Amino acid sequence: MDFEREYQGALTLVERELEGCFREDGPQGELLDAMRYSLLAGGKRVRPVLALKFCEALCGRMEPALDYACGIEMLHTYSLIHDDLPCMDDDELRRGKPTCHVKYGEWLALLAGDALQTAAFERLAASERTTLAANGKACAVLAKAAGKSGMCAGQYLDIVEEGKPLGVDRLTRIHLWKTSALLEAACLLGLTASPVEPSPDQWAAAERYAQELGLAFQIRDDMLDVESTAEELGKPIGSDADNGKTTFAVLYGLDRCRKLVAEHTELAKQSVAGAFERGEFLCALADSLAVRKN
Ligand code: IPE
Ligand code: IPE
Ligand code: MG
Ligand code: MG
Ligand code: MG
Repeated sequence: MDFEREYQGALTLVERELEGCFREDGPQGELLDAMRYSLLAGGKRVRPVLALKFCEALCGRMEPALDYACGIEMLHTYSLIHDDLPCMDDDELRRGKPTCHVKYGEWLALLAGDALQTAAFERLAASERTTLAANGKACAVLAKAAGKSGMCAGQYLDIVEEGKPLGVDRLTRIHLWKTSALLEAACLLGLTASPVEPSPDQWAAAERYAQELGLAFQIRDDMLDVESTAEELGKPIGSDADNGKTTFAVLYGLDRCRKLVAEHTELAKQSVAGAFERGEFLCALADSLAVRKN
């Protein structure tokens, strides 16, 4: 399997779809500009690629999951816009460009995030690539992952615990909510889109994969905040320290973090390796994210 070529194939599909979003004319033009500004600023597109590739792992095709893939990227982009706001992490660089609120002002960035979030659910609900029943389920999956017992809960704890010493259990809870939850939704959306139904074991394997992948992903993110550069990362470094956040890098140091990332990555791979015949890409993706530079 040629990992780079496969990733590029999925990326091309999703970039083409996203490029077509929010182009309508109207008196709300600047709101649409702000949405497109953040959505199309680049980014690795990990979540849409996961959605497409979990669908492919089950049914052999990516296309059924294309609207769900766009939806999860819209929701993720909203979470980044709000995460960067002065009242949250207060960061000025994202995906190598000024953050949405720096470019458009705070109130417009807030609204661009809001509108990206609702656009995500609209895209899921209205997909004609999948059945109405699947679309309803997809909306429920995404809502659960994004909300009060998922990403928003993680973001709440992330902020409320600033400046306080944190134990590993609490920090793991934050990472599972703020990061694993949306990655899990991406994987489950891919399974939901597939016309071939996943078995309960496959559903559970995807959940476990995403939880472990998310822990590895966020620990790696916390490491990069310490050891990367803004040029390479496309976002500021030292933001966590400036905000008094306890991270795995603070708790354990970078060397132990590297081991933890490798361990969680291994667990992620184990959970899909046996469950999906076409799971090779998903394992290679976990490996590549473990050593990612941005
Ligand atoms: C950043 O997500 C937020 C975290 C959960 C660490 P990504 O690292 O996927 O950001 P983009 O989409 O590539 O910009
Ligand atoms: C944020 O985690 C995760 C989200 C839900 C957006 P971080 O605050 O560490 O993400 P970055 O480093 O700003 O991308
Ligand atoms: Mg944050
Ligand atoms: Mg942040
Ligand atoms: Mg970070």
